[in-house]
Amino acid sequence: MSTEQLVHVALGADSYDIHIGTNLPHGALIAQAMSAKTRKVLIVTNETIAPLYLQQFKADLEAQGLTCGECILPDGEEYKNVDSYMQIMTAAIEHQLDRGCALIALGGGVIGDLTGFAAATYQRGIAFFQVPTTLLAMVDSSVGGKTAINHPQGKNMIGAFYQPQAVLIDLTFLKTLPERQIAAGMAEVIKYGAILDRAFFDYLASKAGYSALDLAYVIKRCCELKAEVVAQDEKEHGLRALLNFGHTFGHAIEVGLGFGNFLHGEAVAIGMAIAAWISVESKFGLTEPERDALVEVLKRYDLPYQIPDTLTGDDFVAHMLHDKKVKAGRISYIMLQALGRAAVTRAYDNAQIASLLTACPYRTHYDQH
Ligand code: NAD
Ligand code: GLY
Repeated sequence: MSTEQLVHVALGADSYDIHIGTNLPHGALIAQAMSAKTRKVLIVTNETIAPLYLQQFKADLEAQGLTCGECILPDGEEYKNVDSYMQIMTAAIEHQLDRGCALIALGGGVIGDLTGFAAATYQRGIAFFQVPTTLLAMVDSSVGGKTAINHPQGKNMIGAFYQPQAVLIDLTFLKTLPERQIAAGMAEVIKYGAILDRAFFDYLASKAGYSALDLAYVIKRCCELKAEVVAQDEKEHGLRALLNFGHTFGHAIEVGLGFGNFLHGEAVAIGMAIAAWISVESKFGLTEPERDALVEVLKRYDLPYQIPDTLTGDDFVAHMLHDKKVKAGRISYIMLQALGRAAVTRAYDNAQIASLLTACPYRTHYDQH
């Protein structure tokens, strides 16, 4: 049985719906949103997801009269690159996709970002659908139209803002998602509460852990919050930057330790703890009990919060200076005025941040590989 909730992303002519439920009628929803004249789609997925879901997913679309090509990419952040992008382009050309056809991203954030960027550029732009299969993609990357591939010298360096036609969030995909990936997705969930919604944060804090959550409510609330932000600031001129809470420090950890040691969400979790600690130390508004509550919630959802002892304050600054949001050598930070209220600031100079990071007591040793 299919149950469904809707969140609308209001972006004028680029508006779309996010469908949230279990056992969604993928084929019917996609067929409805496509032009009646063109009935061809290319499903982009990876080698992990294809054996689990592709056959059933494809059959569902074909039952609605859609002709489906498939493009199965290798699995991993290291494949979010120009080679995979070209593989999608080649598959689209070989399947003779025209401007009325669509790409479908069946996967996590890597597949979603890659497919979105391919859709933004194939024949100068064709429709695409997001069908996220990780918690992180359901609550964050599939919504809002940020699409990208990595350059060897920087993550998400090549991309476009390009909105999907619809987002189909089917909770049944989460049954096969490893626990560590679930926890990484929870980091982004906690982020929304910390920056935008104290009541939602309190809900998360009141539960014993992931299995105690009403997941449909949690995903819907995250999508509502993200939809509100994106509707006001699609291209990140201001408000949308708040969604990067924890990410500037987190990216420095990912790069500093080498990709593969921490998942993106794990690094963001440590980044949020650091930002909360600095928010208190620098009197940005957050109180000590609020900071401690944030750290407790990270622990509750099996997330790390301590800085790797191999990274110095200067290492952080060196990595953060490569961030896309640096202007004239000044790094932009998201700090907390309170739980549920965040602000963007460039008020910290690099030496001050380095010494605050050195003084931060959240520090431990992690085994690296
Ligand atoms: P991911 O796409 O690499 O997926 C994580 C792992 O889970 C992969 O090995 C994948 O094959 C596997 N997997 C996916 N669904 C599964 C399922 N249902 N069952 C079993 N295994 C499954 O990682 P992610 O965390 O989803 O996404 C991270 C990416 O998202 C990064 O590239 C990041 O830059 C990007 N991102 C983009 C945005 C945005 O706004 N566009 C926001 C946040 C993150
Ligand atoms: N994940 C941050 C954003 O979409 O803006």
